[in-house]
Amino acid sequence: MQKNKVTTTALREMKARGERITMLTAYDYPSARMVDDAGIDAIMVGDSLGNVILGYKNTLAVTMEEMLHHTKAVARATKRALVIGDMPFMSYQASVEDAVRNAGRFLKEGHAEAVKVEGGRSVLNKIEAIVGAGIPVMGHLGLTPQWIHQFGGYKVQGKTGAAAKLILEDSKLLEQAGVFSLVLECVPWQLAKLITERANVPTIGIGAGPYCDGQVLVLHDLLGLSGEHIPKFVKRYARLDGIMAKALSDFKEEVRGEKFPSLEHSYEMPNEELKKLVGHSKARKRSAR
Ligand code: KIV
Repeated sequence: MQKNKVTTTALREMKARGERITMLTAYDYPSARMVDDAGIDAIMVGDSLGNVILGYKNTLAVTMEEMLHHTKAVARATKRALVIGDMPFMSYQASVEDAVRNAGRFLKEGHAEAVKVEGGRSVLNKIEAIVGAGIPVMGHLGLTPQWIHQFGGYKVQGKTGAAAKLILEDSKLLEQAGVFSLVLECVPWQLAKLITERANVPTIGIGAGPYCDGQVLVLHDLLGLSGEHIPKFVKRYARLDGIMAKALSDFKEEVRGEKFPSLEHSYEMPNEELKKLVGHSKARKRSAR
């Protein structure tokens, strides 16, 4: 395992050594601290923030201010992992100037160390400009959720030879534009394998099979905190939803049943002070209880 602070260079070296890269999303201080302590290599403050944390129906409504608010919290908690801020919808699409300014805000205000941008050939000039400003960019190809209306839903991408060829070409174009890594989301494993073999930068898969250089999952999916309907590619490593539901119900029952709080969870006033408050005899009675 990479012991020191993980950098974009370190991820490239891991690919060269054939060492698998781990990445997870996180959106707040306590979860980022746990992910970092677990030795995960990179933390993506994903715009999945919209669905996972803020209760939006997709990622399109997420704003720069919301992303920065959460990126700051994650960066404060993270010592080792590389922190990547996900550029939200319309923070880079409209102009190169928007793209560079907003990417810069992720580093300057959010204290991220890199940004992620969704899309292929149509965003190349934005990626080049961001990289040109000294900001590392992670690309994202395949099912890019900001394109959901264009795709007509959350569908596996690159299933036909022709569609796969476009994604393969895009991966090369992004590499030429200077991305340090590439997320491949919901593409057939054969395509992800081919891209990974041909790419000089590490690929991080999500729903892209076992042959990528690394894997990413949404933290809440992995922990079993995102409801019953999860995509085929998600593996739940725990069911924290059940554990949390039980804790909440136990609290409710114990308060209603006057079991919580007991004196064990209460602060005590010294007897002399109690006497000053309620008088000698009452204090004795009270402390005898
Ligand atoms: O928004 C997100 O969380 C992502 C990761 C899953 C890569 O894009």
